[in-house]
Amino acid sequence: MTLAELEIAKAASLAEVAAAADAAAVEALRVKYVGRNGSIPALIKAMKDVPKEERPAFGKAVQAWRAEVETALSSKGFTAAEKAVDADLTMPGRWWGLGVKHPLSRVIEESAAIFARLGFTVADGPELENKFNNFTALNTPAHHPSMDRSDTFWFGEDCLLRTQTSPVQIRAMLANKPPVRIICPGRTYRRDTTDATHSANFHQIEGLYVDTKSVSLADLKSVLAYFAKEMMGDGVTVRFRPHFFPFTEPSVEVDFTCHVCKGKGCNVCKQSGWIEVAGAGMVDPRVFKHVGYDPDAVSGYAFGFGVERIAMIKYGIQDIRWLYENDVRFLDQLA
Ligand code: DAH
Repeated sequence: MTLAELEIAKAASLAEVAAAADAAAVEALRVKYVGRNGSIPALIKAMKDVPKEERPAFGKAVQAWRAEVETALSSKGFTAAEKAVDADLTMPGRWWGLGVKHPLSRVIEESAAIFARLGFTVADGPELENKFNNFTALNTPAHHPSMDRSDTFWFGEDCLLRTQTSPVQIRAMLANKPPVRIICPGRTYRRDTTDATHSANFHQIEGLYVDTKSVSLADLKSVLAYFAKEMMGDGVTVRFRPHFFPFTEPSVEVDFTCHVCKGKGCNVCKQSGWIEVAGAGMVDPRVFKHVGYDPDAVSGYAFGFGVERIAMIKYGIQDIRWLYENDVRFLDQLA
């Protein structure tokens, strides 16, 4: 076959493929031209009979022919074999990687479900806050370290990335009359250097219950004990340690029983049997005054959990940065 003849044969083959009306015709043309005993492989086998000086050009032309016929065949749609598979309804479906929920989303959603059973609704607030909601109304004095430029991301005099979800307490009370029973999951920001346990951006779940009847520290403890058991499993409960927060009085730090050793002491809890997870307390009367509530007529409690902290102990995650890297090898392990 000369080069000119090859071009004619090629044009004819492409016309045939273009005219093929069904999968069977496409398959027949595949066998005829590029199949093992097809005419193109036959030409390649016959290359040795082509005069040496013509061989490179001829070889190139044959390869181009094969490529064009294959492209034309595949552009006709499914091959006959694929069509047969598709028509067989008993074949398993194609697999799509659906992905899994991020551990932080899981902790937030599970928490919302647990607190919903206790009558808490989910409130929301902006990540850009003003000084009043983030500090002043929360009874935080100007000399408090969290007000400092080196601790907080400020944008001008009265605009900052919230350092805590506590300002949502203020928003919820300003917008509603008691009783108020809310949780608020969300992002918070501090000027922290990132290491295995710190991140400048992290998440908290705020909680607030205020009522006209008397609310006590015992109510707070029972709610957190229920949350601990539902979130971490049976045998996990809470203990309170005295602490200070400007917006609660008294204030406590909240520990969960270590869910790994159930309080016996192990490496995870540094042999103490307890793991710190939240801050909490009874809402300070001065906070009530800032939102126009009568401190003599209402009482309530508040709490704030670290979401990363709960995710890390619940799933045994050793480095907070893994939560933000979006590495599917890590996320898949928690599926
Ligand atoms: N906002 C506090 C923090 O970021 C956590 C906290 C402590 C929240 C006590 C509260 C609370 O609602 O009552 O460290």
